Amino acid sequence: MEPAAGITERLVERLSCAARMTILTGAGVSHESGVPTFRGEDGLWGKYRAEELATWRAFEADPELVWRWYDYRRQLIADVNPNPAHLAIARLESACDSVVLVTQNVDGLHARAGSTAPVELHGNIWRARCTREQTTLHLPDNPLSEIPPLCPKCGSLLRPDVVWFGEPLPNDAYERADEAACSCDAMLVVGTSAMVRPAASLPLVAKHNGALVVEVNVGLTPISALIDATLVGKAGDVLPELVDRILEHTGGSKSPSSAEAAETTSR
Ligand code: APR
Repeated sequence: MEPAAGITERLVERLSCAARMTILTGAGVSHESGVPTFRGEDGLWGKYRAEELATWRAFEADPELVWRWYDYRRQLIADVNPNPAHLAIARLESACDSVVLVTQNVDGLHARAGSTAPVELHGNIWRARCTREQTTLHLPDNPLSEIPPLCPKCGSLLRPDVVWFGEPLPNDAYERADEAACSCDAMLVVGTSAMVRPAASLPLVAKHNGALVVEVNVGLTPISALIDATLVGKAGDVLPELVDRILEHTGGSKSPSSAEAAETTSR
């Protein structure tokens, strides 16, 4: 099969020899599952003004409207499945003990594909948080039986456990993501417009710390000129092939010892 655009043997070698790899994903990795992105031609924001829905002020003004939007998105997502890109990422994680997955997505599709510990920078649409006690809980019913939902413990309003515009990222998640960006030897940046900070800064943090940074996207982004390579193509096409070739190169499991072993045997 013709290699996907840009997956050269040299690139595979360099990615295979990375002792620590971080993968950063955005809405583009879920696009082939049928989940609309935020800024593409069919993007969600195209239909709604972000300020109307994804801000604390909008929620305070009309919690029912905001919850109806999130319930609509949850129903969209409940009917879709992880696509080959999610599955390829999960395969790489299970074969390599040194891959950290950081996602901006709140759809939960990485976990459904088998990723065991995605760092969820922007929260998770399947969780809610009590506006009084700040405790989080899994939202069982889809669609919601009551809108807006109330905390079963104290009766206060629940909010979606996602990060809204103007809100800080969850401390723990951002610290883990920053550590993963600072300490990796290679970063794959998959399906993000790299326009929303601080997530969009992570590839440049990795680059600044000496990592090989490769993006997978259907088009160029503001970071394309600042990183090592852009594999132009759909994540669902590029990632399965890239992961196959990395695992072939490292003999099926990628960890520092096996990567070195693969190096010596290939000499
Ligand atoms: N394969 C790879 N890339 C794709 C695909 C695909 N099949 N389809 C779309 N893309 C790319 C687009 O070219 C775009 O660069 O995915 C990116 C999606 O960008 P956005 O819609 O801006 O999504 P994202 O980068 O995740 O947005 C970041 O902004 O609104 C906030 O909280 C929201 O987490 C989100 C953040």
